[in-house]
Amino acid sequence: MQNDEDPSSQSIHHIVYCSQAAQHMDKEALEKIIATARHHNPRFGITGLLVFGSGIFFQWLEGPRDNVTSLLKLISADPRHSNVVLLTKEDEFRERLFPNWDMELVEAEDISAVLEDAMHEASDPKQKNTLSNMLLELNNISLGK
Ligand SMILES: Cc1cc2nc3c(=O)[nH]c(=O)nc-3n(C[C@H](O)[C@H](O)[C@H](O)COP(=O)(O)O)c2cc1C
Repeated sequence: MQNDEDPSSQSIHHIVYCSQAAQHMDKEALEKIIATARHHNPRFGITGLLVFGSGIFFQWLEGPRDNVTSLLKLISADPRHSNVVLLTKEDEFRERLFPNWDMELVEAEDISAVLEDAMHEASDPKQKNTLSNMLLELNNISLGK
């Protein structure tokens, strides 16, 4: 496992994927996923955001490259969803976008506002651009494109 003690000197790997829930997801089922994530992610230096709405998951994972890659493999094999589509996969020297969220659950109707806030607050133009792309991806998903 990679050490993530000094994030400023390291390349942060991030991925964004979307997927389809295999079965009806009620609050309890979603909370179970979040509880697992919050249990595991801090140990691997992983933070991020999980959006769920209209049967679609949308997840942002960031952290040391090997750990993010291993976690994505594990998540992709999870029978609770299928059609995992990788939307973004990047290494960047920058701070985390979601440093305080081991895994934050956001309802789909709230996500645009959350991302727009983060986009306006970001001082780094690269981060602004990444968030703007996330918003576009999200709008495309909700429009069924
Ligand atoms: C949409 C989705 C997102 C998930 N996100 C995470 C995550 O961020 N971290 C994590 O450890 N597990 C996550 N999981 C669960 C993993 O797929 C897997 O079930 C879990 O890591 C296994 O942990 P366990 O052996 O302790 O049950 C997610 C599952 C789904 C369906």
